[in-house]
Amino acid sequence: MKIQFSDLHFSYPSGDEALKGISLEFSGTAPVAIIGQNGSGKTTFAKHFNGILRPGSGKLLIDGEDIHARSTAEWSARIGYVFQNPQDQLFLETVKKELEFGPKKIKMEPERIAENVKYAAQLCKMDDKLDIHPFDLSPTQRKFCTIASIVAMDPEVILLDEPTGGQDYYGTLLLEEIIESLQKKGKLVITISHDMDFVIRNFERVIALCDGKVIIDADARTAFSRVEELARTFIEPPPVTRIAQALDFDETVVDLQRFFVCFDKKLKGAA
Ligand SMILES: Nc1ncnc2c1ncn2[C@@H]1O[C@H](COP(=O)(O)OP(=O)(O)OP(=O)(O)O)[C@@H](O)[C@H]1O
Ligand SMILES: [Mg+2]
Repeated sequence: MKIQFSDLHFSYPSGDEALKGISLEFSGTAPVAIIGQNGSGKTTFAKHFNGILRPGSGKLLIDGEDIHARSTAEWSARIGYVFQNPQDQLFLETVKKELEFGPKKIKMEPERIAENVKYAAQLCKMDDKLDIHPFDLSPTQRKFCTIASIVAMDPEVILLDEPTGGQDYYGTLLLEEIIESLQKKGKLVITISHDMDFVIRNFERVIALCDGKVIIDADARTAFSRVEELARTFIEPPPVTRIAQALDFDETVVDLQRFFVCFDKKLKGAA
């Protein structure tokens, strides 16, 4: 699937211009991270992919078709958005009903619904919680319930809006497994995150938003070398990168293995 935004602008009815001319293209299955300070426009941008929000001006083409050509329900069968706040998404009385809701809405065949709900529940570790009320889940489990309910629709593209928020170590590991499994299934996963360690471990392409505009669109290593642009959107690179930058290594380091290679080189250079 090819998704093309050109010069996208969007203002809320309050008059706040949240997106100020975004031009980006998405295709393939390499996971993408979207970063940026609070209020930079990440959620507003993500809600445009399947038409939850519609462009104020500019164009959005999906495989060459204008976003306005179809309803949000139709686009949602191909592009799923997982809400930042689970309470904006969950409203049924059991996890199972939540997982079946989307597939039924897009009129998926009953056998495929059963198959996809089973897959999504296993992937998100919800398979032993299907009869529970979503509000009886812990806040982190609730997040996995929202992810499972979108995965159950089997869309080609999945947007995760701040899935790392409030996750513990095991929750973050599960998220990493989910992203990897979805990529292996041929899905494009686009994730909004404030956790730069998580970003560096899991994403090849990093897009940084600042005040409704794209200020970085690059591979992760290049993105974290752009210290001045990152500072504009109040993002600090991962700790290992910052230490390497403070030690004035001559390359951007994003993992420990490379850190030790560069550190060794530096020591030998100083000897
Ligand atoms: N429903 C709304 N009505 C009016 N303004 C809004 C609404 N939602 C967001 N905004 C404004 O639009 C801008 C972008 O907000 P958005 O929620 O997209 O940012 P964000 O990058 O997702 O932030 P966060 O990291 O806090 O989730 C902000 O100035 C915000 O105050
Ligand atoms: Mg947001």
